[in-house]
Amino acid sequence: MTVPFLLKIENLTKTFQVGSQIIQAVSDVSLTLHKGNILGIGGESGSGKSTLAKLLIALTEPTSGAIYFDGINLKDLVKQGDNRWRKEIQMIFQQPSSSLNPRMTIEQILKEPFIIHRHLDQKLWLERIVELLELVGLSSHYLKRMPQELSGGQKQRIAIARALAVKPRLLICDEPFSALDVSVQAQIIDLLMRLKADQELTYVVISHDLAALHYMCDEIAIMHAGQIVEWGPSEQMYRSPTHPYTQALLSAVLPFTLPAG
Ligand SMILES: Nc1ncnc2c1ncn2[C@@H]1O[C@H](COP(=O)(O)OP(=O)(O)O)[C@@H](O)[C@H]1O
Ligand SMILES: [Mg+2]
Repeated sequence: MTVPFLLKIENLTKTFQVGSQIIQAVSDVSLTLHKGNILGIGGESGSGKSTLAKLLIALTEPTSGAIYFDGINLKDLVKQGDNRWRKEIQMIFQQPSSSLNPRMTIEQILKEPFIIHRHLDQKLWLERIVELLELVGLSSHYLKRMPQELSGGQKQRIAIARALAVKPRLLICDEPFSALDVSVQAQIIDLLMRLKADQELTYVVISHDLAALHYMCDEIAIMHAGQIVEWGPSEQMYRSPTHPYTQALLSAVLPFTLPAG
């Protein structure tokens, strides 16, 4: 029996009209991702990575093409008003500061997914929240703290805990470490790698940092002007890229410090 794809993207296109100008932010993109794997999406700013991420969590509708999650067309689920799948695909963003409500305590922030998705008996929320904090290397000590009292790395850990609260199967990470200091980046990469193994997750990791993608990902796809110009096993993409655009991106890569351990 063939193993089904957890995610299958078919000829996905998203165009924006700005005044009289038509922008093809995502242009005829097809990709597949097996359960338990990490797919990296690389490419320069403006290449369409975030638009692709937004399409994957149905934050925006495709102009054409289809996304299948676990074999089911997302469009059909959205049309039927079936929102159960929404907890199965979670996203973490580049700027943890702007994704966490500054007027809420960490406890309130981590409680939100349970309220939204009607997940878990209310009596178990606090216990699960403390468990989530520990999962991301924090503790119950942070429950009453406000986001602005936390460092960038701690905020990203909270964003990851929030994403994991409802036990998703697919995590979309859009530039999850690019707003962080280099040493903190390595810690967050390390955390994501550990969580993937422990929580049986599948990732799409978006980053312009090809060295980080090479370290984390099983496969890498390179986007340029909305299109996938190259897609293959991480090692092959990093060692012997065939597309001139990937070669140019790689030549700009700075030395990258791997997390310890
Ligand atoms: N809501 C929008 N309206 C109009 N143009 C957009 C919108 N979102 C993105 N774009 C354009 O689509 C292209 C891809 O953007 P984006 O997906 O953010 O790229 P990346 O994340 O790789 O930097 C850019 O030209 C951007 O200006
Ligand atoms: Mg982006």
